[in-house]
Amino acid sequence: MKILALETTCDETAAAVIGDDLCVLGSVVASQDKIHERFGGVVPELASRAHLEQILPVIDETLRRSGIALTDLDAIAVANTPGLAGSLLVGLAAAKALCFALGKPLIAVNHLQAHVYACKVAFKEDPFPCVGLIVSGGHSSLYRCEAPTDFTLLGGTIDDAAGEAFDKVAAMLGLPFPGGPAIQRVAEKGRPTAHAFPRSLLDEPERLAFSFSGLKTAVRYKLVGPGKSDPAAAAAQLPEKEIADLAASFQEAVVDCLVGKSVQAVRQTGLTTLCVGGGVAANARFRQKMESAARKHGFRLFIAPLSLCTDNAVMGAIAVERFKAGLFEPLDLDVFPGLVRG
Ligand code: KG4
Ligand code: ZN
Repeated sequence: MKILALETTCDETAAAVIGDDLCVLGSVVASQDKIHERFGGVVPELASRAHLEQILPVIDETLRRSGIALTDLDAIAVANTPGLAGSLLVGLAAAKALCFALGKPLIAVNHLQAHVYACKVAFKEDPFPCVGLIVSGGHSSLYRCEAPTDFTLLGGTIDDAAGEAFDKVAAMLGLPFPGGPAIQRVAEKGRPTAHAFPRSLLDEPERLAFSFSGLKTAVRYKLVGPGKSDPAAAAAQLPEKEIADLAASFQEAVVDCLVGKSVQAVRQTGLTTLCVGGGVAANARFRQKMESAARKHGFRLFIAPLSLCTDNAVMGAIAVERFKAGLFEPLDLDVFPGLVRG
């Protein structure tokens, strides 16, 4: 069995060929970071245009690396929810065209479920049932994951996603986009205890939710004070050491919230495994603190390896589950930008 998986939900154009036993025959990710960098965040219209340019070369290169031809494929899978509408449409249109031309079945992939499934692909162990934590630029959510495609939302962010907070705070500190890796790099030289930033909602263990906007404002006020604008200009006047302290203290607060709420979710559900995926799971401090929490609280922890945290098509291997169950889609399948199907 060979499935071509496509991923264009946000700002990475990615394709992968998945073979038997979740073996990855080839994978390509074309990043758009350079395009969005000067805006400090993803610009949806630019993202979909870049996908249009990249999708065919990315598919060609993936097949070349996999050493197979289009006709060797058994199915085409594509992430059609959730994500940016225009970006999703490019992947879906490409997948439909291939299915139509080749006479192969179409498989729908839920991008959030795929982020959790990345752990199964990487560790070749079945993590289900588990608590799933997805922390990315667009999502900070906890799920009860009974099976690869059976998720129930436990709770999510009530304002910004964790990655979004990293990106916005990085912009305030005058650091480049994407903000997560930039903050991590600068934070290595800073003190995580330099500023006592808020850890919102951690004192409400029953409430499985995140909030990062208060934390973001707290960083802003350290730079400019209420009512004033242009924190990046203020940051440019500060010595490197102070930027490092702000970055380290901010990162520590986000990590404490993510780890703390995950522990609360494990306790509340009685599940004994936690799977983590999404771009923010690439954060070194997060991985370190999550691993100590797993040891301390005695749960099994799977964090996707770095290359499978940020968006990629390898995690589209979840399509194998649908392929085996014969769950194929008609060619009038639509995108669902905000809707997360169970
Ligand atoms: O999963 P992803 O590639 O795309 C979405 O689906 O959003 O996640 C991208 C997000 C960005 O906000 C980026 O700043 C963040 O993941 N990120 C990180 C790190 N690497 C990427 N955040 C913290 N630390 C990192 N090392
Ligand atoms: Zn993602």
